[in-house]
Amino acid sequence: MSTNRASGFKKPISFLYISVFVLLLSVQIEAATKKYQFIVEVKNVSRLCHAKPIVTVNGRFPGPTVYAREGDRVLINVTNHAQYNISIHWHGLKQYANGWADGPAYITQCPIKTGSNYVYDFNVTGQRGTLWWHAHILWLRATVYGAIVILPKQATPFPFPRPDGEHIIVFGEWWHADVEEVVKQGNALGLPPNMSDAHTINGKPGPLFPCSEKHTFVMEVEQGKRYLLRIVNAALNDELFFAIAGHNMTVVEIDAVYTKPFTTNALLIAPGQTTNVIVSANRTPGRYFMAVRPFQDVPIPVDNKTATAILQYKNIPTTVVPLLPRLPSPNDTEFALSYNEKLRSLNTPNFPANVPVKVDRSLFFTVGLGKSACATCVNGTRLSASLNNITFVMPETGLLQAHYFNKKGVFTVDFPDKPPTFFNYTGAPLTANLFTSKGTRLSKITFNSTVELVIQDTNLLSVESHPFHLHGFNFFVVGTGVGNFNPATDPAKYNLVDPPERNTVGVPTGGWAAIRFRADNPGVWFFHCHLELHTGWGLKTAFVVEDGPGKDQAVRPPPKDLPAC
Ligand code: C2O
Repeated sequence: MSTNRASGFKKPISFLYISVFVLLLSVQIEAATKKYQFIVEVKNVSRLCHAKPIVTVNGRFPGPTVYAREGDRVLINVTNHAQYNISIHWHGLKQYANGWADGPAYITQCPIKTGSNYVYDFNVTGQRGTLWWHAHILWLRATVYGAIVILPKQATPFPFPRPDGEHIIVFGEWWHADVEEVVKQGNALGLPPNMSDAHTINGKPGPLFPCSEKHTFVMEVEQGKRYLLRIVNAALNDELFFAIAGHNMTVVEIDAVYTKPFTTNALLIAPGQTTNVIVSANRTPGRYFMAVRPFQDVPIPVDNKTATAILQYKNIPTTVVPLLPRLPSPNDTEFALSYNEKLRSLNTPNFPANVPVKVDRSLFFTVGLGKSACATCVNGTRLSASLNNITFVMPETGLLQAHYFNKKGVFTVDFPDKPPTFFNYTGAPLTANLFTSKGTRLSKITFNSTVELVIQDTNLLSVESHPFHLHGFNFFVVGTGVGNFNPATDPAKYNLVDPPERNTVGVPTGGWAAIRFRADNPGVWFFHCHLELHTGWGLKTAFVVEDGPGKDQAVRPPPKDLPAC
């Protein structure tokens, strides 16, 4: 009895020790450090009767998947053995106060020169799901890209039934020629570079192309099981429709944010975006095609070729000819609008949608395509693009360094909150150029202020759907519409309850999108159209978010190995 009493006295103490130990252990497990070696190197890859050297990471195409768990620290040592300077962006990772690890060349860092290396060192905080990484210089992301999988914290389940397995599916574009040469050619002529020769699924175009036998991605499933598909659109210039013959998909996450699940027979995904879906292998065991093809609802030429892969039930002979799925037609505006309409944040107590309700700063940016004089170009003009009539000029040094070290003369912070003139943005086609100026002009934002930004497409040269991506933040897409944004009536229709939260929004063709975010991440954050064609023409700017008053609210000091320009 007395021993019992004695141990009864001691028990709480040893229990305390044990729990502290368990806690420390679990903290250690939760906050693990994941290390990756990325060797950027040229490798001869063969696709579709062509063999050619491409820039890869670790000789792989697509590149390696980065796995991390929410709360982890990730160290990725990038060594550049290619002939081009490189930088890599971890698309969708917030990089709190740590723009040094964000990656866009000349925005947050100088590129990693041939023969050098740089360690991207970042924490994965408050995010879980599928994101991706890609080169962020020139058009190198055509071949330098891969998926990022962030698992939820240990013992935290998905907010949907646990899948039996998962697969990564990355869409891309393939050129038979050296992409950098193609771009140089286009720029010299003042025209868009030749469009891609094929689309790809996990680097492979599939059997609708010649010499494709070895170049078809096959995804094996077992009858009766449920799979999580982590889908990434890494294409440079094409918004894509995707479908699987005979199988519906339930969308559960976009851009690493959980959504209210909905079931669809096809999905739409813009360059930069990610989508997680659940697919049940509940059909007659067989072979089914998965197919991907662009959405383009204006007469702008586009690589309209369909890439396919095969969903293959276990033990089904590969001689069985698969069925093709029905994709929405390439100009199906209706489908595109109604698909995006269905996207809603999950908005539960565990995964709330903290939509800013009051707006401190209201911005309105117009998208403009145009032409400028060019004596050596074929038509005497060169295509260009602008936001609020400003064509962004890339600096020669990193903007974040200039900001951090207060170096003058690299950029100005006078990017206008509104376009210089109001006009009927989406009326009859406007062939004339509006007055456009060039400059490295940024928009300065007060720390922790709430920002509303309306992105308005225009009919300058042509309306078009533009996927806009903001670095450093997720934002809420509180409203979208076709035609001109009406500040008197449209805000009343906003969804401030469960709007989709993401990092890349498709602005509807000839329409607008209103996004809101809280500027709680100090630094310099790139904002651009994720169509490489338009980014290259100047459809971009950046936000300078000032430091906050707190000691953890200022941009961290730069890492010692930050490349110099
Ligand atoms: Cu995915 Cu600035 O890009």
